[in-house]
Amino acid sequence: MSFGFSKLNLVDPTPLEYLPTLSDQLGVEFYIKRDDLTPWGGGGNKLRKLEYLIADAIEGGFTAILTVGGAQTNHGRLTAAVAAKYGLKCVIVAIDDYPGEVSANILLDRIMGCEVVLKKSDGRPEGEQFDEMCKKIKAEYEAKGEKVYYIPVGGSNALGILGYYDCAVEMTKQTEALGIGDARVISAVGSMGTYLGLFCGLKNEKSPLSLTGIAISPFGSAKERRIVEYFEEVKEKFGLTLKEDTRDMDIEKGYTRGAYNNPCKEVRDAIYLMARSEAVLLDPCYTGKAFAGILDMINEGKIAKGEKIIFLHTGGFPGLYTKHHRVEFEKELLDGVRIIE
Ligand SMILES: Cc1ncc(COP(=O)(O)O)c(C=O)c1O
Repeated sequence: MSFGFSKLNLVDPTPLEYLPTLSDQLGVEFYIKRDDLTPWGGGGNKLRKLEYLIADAIEGGFTAILTVGGAQTNHGRLTAAVAAKYGLKCVIVAIDDYPGEVSANILLDRIMGCEVVLKKSDGRPEGEQFDEMCKKIKAEYEAKGEKVYYIPVGGSNALGILGYYDCAVEMTKQTEALGIGDARVISAVGSMGTYLGLFCGLKNEKSPLSLTGIAISPFGSAKERRIVEYFEEVKEKFGLTLKEDTRDMDIEKGYTRGAYNNPCKEVRDAIYLMARSEAVLLDPCYTGKAFAGILDMINEGKIAKGEKIIFLHTGGFPGLYTKHHRVEFEKELLDGVRIIE
């Protein structure tokens, strides 16, 4: 459903798979929606948002894309990918320290020809520093004759949600065909575009699927305000008249483990469990943390025994190679590496 907005065709329907070993181990019917298998630039959820955002940029005659995020932004990597594919310049601005190496997402950004600007924080509010830096970089690109299109963090503006509106429609069809139309979809929540797109799609299309989000970073009052504003923006842009409001949104806020993208033992254990039972690789920032939350929810009875759940795999595997995560993995895994000299 494009509501009249242009869309690139980057993502065919992704597989929805039953995970038998994990289902047996956890006592639930565990399905996974493989949005990590979207085809470009290493894949992940942001390609669905970019189908709309980059179409808008191309339609407007823009020649360069400027986006923002953390140094290891998956959204930035996928923006770099789509920009490369459509012959656009791309630059990512992060208020973050240089990690001391060109690795993980930064390596992939650079391989795809995207410039990465890492501005060390000077302690002022992040928003202020981002605004200042983005203005400066935009002016530099414009001075070279580029017309710069700005994409906010995570591609999460009103237009960006349409990608996950479409995914809600896709999953509704897939689950009907599998006879699991009453399942619960569970997704990581970061900049909230994925969750909001799914919510609007499921509700507006009257899907019987339910939806739970798991916040991966502390969900303070700024985020509480943002979700209300964001929902209003979306309803206005697409003329949606939904009876639900933000109180009908189910977002678990108790599994953030204290910070964004922090190394956590329980998250690594969840990553091992998924990899060793089903050969599916999760990432330590988003999907591993969300899966660790699912395991807690099962233990706490928030997910009932026998319940049908669909874990949305939103991608992010390059995060496994981020220095501060990699060193923690290495400590735990080195014992299984036999070094023979
Ligand atoms: C791998 C991965 N999963 C989930 C998310 C969360 O999506 P959203 O920002 O739309 O809430 C992101 C966002 O960057 C991501 O990179």
